[in-house]
Amino acid sequence: MSSYVQPLFGIPLYRNTRPELEGLTERVSNLEYERMAVGNGDISTTKWLLEQESFQDLRSLIMEEMNIFTHYLLHMDPQKIQWRLQNSWAVRHNKGDWSQAHHHTNSVFSGVYYVRTNENSGNIVFTRTHDTVSTTTFDFPYTNFNELNSKSFGITPQTGEIVMFPSHLMHSVDPNNSDQIRYAVAFNFVPTGTWGEGEHEISL
Ligand SMILES: [Fe+2]
Repeated sequence: MSSYVQPLFGIPLYRNTRPELEGLTERVSNLEYERMAVGNGDISTTKWLLEQESFQDLRSLIMEEMNIFTHYLLHMDPQKIQWRLQNSWAVRHNKGDWSQAHHHTNSVFSGVYYVRTNENSGNIVFTRTHDTVSTTTFDFPYTNFNELNSKSFGITPQTGEIVMFPSHLMHSVDPNNSDQIRYAVAFNFVPTGTWGEGEHEISL
């Protein structure tokens, strides 16, 4: 038997890159923004962006990707559980802007669609908060890092890329070191449907 390590009970991080939607950067850049309370980025004044008529193409794209993620790849029963888009908002990062580590509350799955980004406009960095090979308090020395032993994992998103993940997953965004303004749309999902039996049945 050859040696093998099974990555057990992993956190699903979904990624896909789709063709850019026509005129989306202009539509997102024309939104009204306010400075975030922390003072490190701008957020659209609307927190229900994808309800707007002019963003239905992006909403459809996100719903398609969410169904692939949860129904096809995670094998959730499409007859019993669907997903309702909740809050959605745009984020504008000028040069030097960044996002502190956070997770999304009152949500089950969250995601980000990258409207305009480049390799220097800030990685999204996911952070491990649960124990895996090492505990969260022990800091073992490693000669190499992979998905089994890392405490954080950063990705450099491309324009047109969508990432989705359980809302409890901590993430931050590195500073925008480019001269180009970075735009992204973030969103939250909650489940709807009826599943379970007897005293465990739930309808949402
Ligand atoms: Fe976030």
